[in-house]
Amino acid sequence: MINVKKDLAFLGEEINQLKKDNLYRELFILDSAQQPLSIINSRKVVNLSSNNYLGLTTHPKVIQRAREYLEKWGAGTSAVRTIIGTMHIHNDLEKKIAMFKGTEASIVFQSGFATNVSVNQTIMTSEEDFIISDQLNHASIIDGARLAKAQRLIYKHKDMAELESHLKEVKSKRARRVLIVTDGVFSMDGDIAPLPDIAALAEKYGALIMVDDAHATGVVGKNGRGTPSHFDLTDQIHIQIGTLSKTIGAMGGYVASTLEVRDYFVQKARQFLFSSSHPPAVVGACMAAFEILETEPNLMEQLWNNTKYFKGRLKELGFNTGHSETPITPIIVGDSAKTLRFSDRLFEEGVFVQGIVFPTVPRGTERLRTIVTATHSKGDLDFAVDKIKKIGNELGVVK
Ligand SMILES: Cc1ncc(COP(=O)(O)O)c(C=O)c1O
Repeated sequence: MINVKKDLAFLGEEINQLKKDNLYRELFILDSAQQPLSIINSRKVVNLSSNNYLGLTTHPKVIQRAREYLEKWGAGTSAVRTIIGTMHIHNDLEKKIAMFKGTEASIVFQSGFATNVSVNQTIMTSEEDFIISDQLNHASIIDGARLAKAQRLIYKHKDMAELESHLKEVKSKRARRVLIVTDGVFSMDGDIAPLPDIAALAEKYGALIMVDDAHATGVVGKNGRGTPSHFDLTDQIHIQIGTLSKTIGAMGGYVASTLEVRDYFVQKARQFLFSSSHPPAVVGACMAAFEILETEPNLMEQLWNNTKYFKGRLKELGFNTGHSETPITPIIVGDSAKTLRFSDRLFEEGVFVQGIVFPTVPRGTERLRTIVTATHSKGDLDFAVDKIKKIGNELGVVK
């Protein structure tokens, strides 16, 4: 007789090991909408951990449009895009994204994760292809590169000399295709990829560029168009990736590029071919969110005012905030147990900031990862900074 519990007990052993190593995660429960002041595990706290940069998850226009699309088009599509899961609203959203990103076309996937995996896997299909990736790229890029048939090379974070040396090496091997992959804004450090240097190298060595702007869309560039726009390089970046689940406030990911890229993915991308399309309410929410980016620039302005204020105060107090240039501001603690303790103590004091430890970040760089949004008030930020100062002193992180 099969004993399900006993047969799966090996997982319990691994979990126990994680607990011993201080790497076990409990899930926090959000008892409210995702807001600057949220109820988390029944406690009212200043929330410094969401990616809701402009507060669009609860923007009245986003909710209203989601409602309208739900009423008109139903709860879901019950089909993949290539069978009968493409409503004209899906095509409308893709046109909207392409217009916004300044590209010929775009194609939407179920998540940002699926998008990154798909690009690597769908385009880099031969052992004569090479993916050259920044060391700190997001896990979905790493997994996508692993699924691709291409060979993989990693360069140290933003190290252009090492990128160039890899490009030289693959040139000497007569690579068929070369794809340089980078986050636009790095998700754990909040710094920006050196796109002008990357573009110059790509041109010199005939490589393609893919930029993941998950944390740049709605944050940098004209009206939040992302890092290519920030550097005025929109027409130089072959593939722009974004998510619909951070600033846009809903769910999904997309590739913005040429018509051929879109067409190719419709024919070949497994994540597109074998997974059902977005529920209409999500499509409606996304449509409204992109319209807000175009029409309410005050939100981005407020995001940056808050970012500068918060970062400035943390620096004044002597915290190590790394090389952040965006609303993602790490507070580097450099010790796993102390980071988790810092996060726990802040929560007790009314501030929610996740501690990020190995393996998400390298050992020795364990940190609190703070994210301010446009919707935090000055009072929220002052409250959070005072508590960060208090616990930072208590734990000896700052004097
Ligand atoms: C840089 C980056 N790319 C991609 C993703 C995945 O996006 P999604 O949450 O839409 O799957 C994330 C989210 O964690 C991210 O930070």
